[in-house]
Amino acid sequence: MMRLRSRKSLVVGIVLLALITFLAWRLIRPMNIFVVTEAFERPVSTAGLPQSLQSLSANDCASCHQEFYQEWSTSIHSQAWTDPYFQVDWAFDGKQQVCKNCHIPLDRQQEHKVAGFKDDEKWQPILEPNPAFDAKLQHEGVTCAACHLRDGKILGPYGSESTAHPVEKLANPNEVCFKCHVVGGNRWDTFFRVPPCGTVAEIRSTPAAAANDAAGQKSGRSGDASPDCVQCHMPLAERPLVAGGKVRTVRRHLWRGGHDPEMVKQGLDAALREAPAPSPDKRSFTLTLTNKGAAHYLPTGTPDRHLTASIRLVDRNGIVLREDHHVLKRNILWRPFIVDLRDTRLPRWQPRVFRFDVDPSRDPTAVTVEAQVQYHLLNEDRRRRIGYENKEPIAYDVFRARIGLNKEKSN
Ligand code: HEC
Ligand code: HEC
Ligand code: HEC
Ligand code: HEC
Ligand code: HEC
Repeated sequence: MMRLRSRKSLVVGIVLLALITFLAWRLIRPMNIFVVTEAFERPVSTAGLPQSLQSLSANDCASCHQEFYQEWSTSIHSQAWTDPYFQVDWAFDGKQQVCKNCHIPLDRQQEHKVAGFKDDEKWQPILEPNPAFDAKLQHEGVTCAACHLRDGKILGPYGSESTAHPVEKLANPNEVCFKCHVVGGNRWDTFFRVPPCGTVAEIRSTPAAAANDAAGQKSGRSGDASPDCVQCHMPLAERPLVAGGKVRTVRRHLWRGGHDPEMVKQGLDAALREAPAPSPDKRSFTLTLTNKGAAHYLPTGTPDRHLTASIRLVDRNGIVLREDHHVLKRNILWRPFIVDLRDTRLPRWQPRVFRFDVDPSRDPTAVTVEAQVQYHLLNEDRRRRIGYENKEPIAYDVFRARIGLNKEKSN
């Protein structure tokens, strides 16, 4: 009996120890939040650069395609490498090579060639020096050729014929976006409801997908099921591709998103209103937020992005008497297992209503109810943890409103 029991406790002990070791490792292991797929496991090959082009630099494309260059250079794509937040985050994460395949995707933009992989998951590439490395091109981030160069040809929507460079017709311009804006996260040990940067999955999961299509039709696009990114992120314009060329319907190279308050405001419908009073001695207000202009969630992109909404009761000196604070964010438990806990962001067309009751007898000095909605590129805690000294603000207002309480009171 004794022997048996001690052997049993030995087994239990070993199992427990193994479990503790496993959990401890899960708590400190390097974390790979996405799955490396064929789409971006290696940089884009620039072999077979068209003879007619001197280099792959955006500056050279600019010598003929001025306006496209101008627009691109105001976009975050042109800063995908120099972006100080990216640089700090990348260093904090151990300068992984795979990050480069989307942030500086051309082989010539990278110091090393990827010769193979040490692990099945392709997080540990075998690197060799790259003699074709071009430091200047590296600073162009997601440069023209990253989207336009494939197998020595320039991808474009028209299939034009010019002596400037060979062209291959691009069937669906959105395919270009999917290369970098779709990452998968499904592994045995992760429990994501939508993938880590789930923009495309978010569009597909919008319940009113039919209405999505209707919106697509209104803008002159067919209502197929494939998410249409360029419709909103590359607005239409009429102009020639090159000075003096044929006027065509083109897409502006703007790609506005979280870094642009106007773009976020365009997606957000916000209203502060007085609601029917819950009882004769109280007043009630509602802040309603609706994602009316983004096919994916608002906000979308990295899980860093979030909105905060505050409703405040303020006295005549501007002192806040009471405040409700709401966070609209994707909440993820990272360790020991990645679990998608709660998602309070705004899916398309589903209004979110925050109610705020005021009892004038309890707060007799109150004079206004105020609402403020802010977009955050990242959390202040995370900013501090990774040591990112931001020069640009990491949060900004996208809505502000106030309602005076006094009119009724003076009666
Ligand atoms: C010497 C001038 C010149 C240079 C340099 C040049 N292009 Fe072009 N490109 C043209 C001309 C001309 C056309 C055809 C215009 C037309 O038919 O309206 C064109 C067409 C295009 C198209 C549309 C193709 C289609 O038919 O759908 C794209 C995309 C494009 N260029 C991208 C680039 C990129 C990217 C670079 C730099 C790597 C570049 N071009 C460099 C002159 C140039
Ligand atoms: C080669 C990879 C790549 C491709 C292809 C690509 N993107 Fe991006 N995109 C990025 C990266 C990297 C960033 C983030 C850069 C940063 O903030 O450092 C980004 C950022 C953005 C943003 C966010 C802007 C902001 O203010 O934060 C939008 C919007 C966007 N891309 C739209 C598109 C669309 C639409 C397409 C397809 C036409 C596309 N992208 C194709 C890599 C890519
Ligand atoms: C993030 C990907 C991306 C980058 C970077 C990019 N383009 Fe484009 N470009 C596209 C897509 C997608 C289209 C097709 C739009 C459409 O359907 O008309 C396009 C179309 C074009 C066209 C044809 C006109 C039009 O709008 O259809 C030209 C010319 C062009 N790009 C030039 C450039 C130049 C020059 C640069 C760099 C300064 C550049 N592009 C950078 C994605 C990109
Ligand atoms: C109906 C219009 C619409 C469509 C379609 C759309 N977007 Fe957006 N997108 C927006 C608006 C508005 C914003 C700004 C608010 C936000 O961040 O959600 C935005 C923001 C973004 C951002 C910024 C995230 C960040 O980190 O700053 C990215 C990336 C993005 N969209 C990618 C895409 C991609 C990829 C597609 C196609 C699969 C797409 N969008 C389709 C309207 C649209
Ligand atoms: C599959 C392509 C891809 C890979 C790989 C990738 N990124 Fe990105 N990254 C993007 C895109 C697209 C965006 C912008 C849209 C968004 O917010 O989802 C972005 C945005 C970012 C941002 C936000 C930048 C800003 O200006 O706010 C940071 C930081 C970042 N990436 C860091 C990294 C790091 C670190 C790695 C490697 C561990 C990495 N990325 C790997 C595509 C990629």
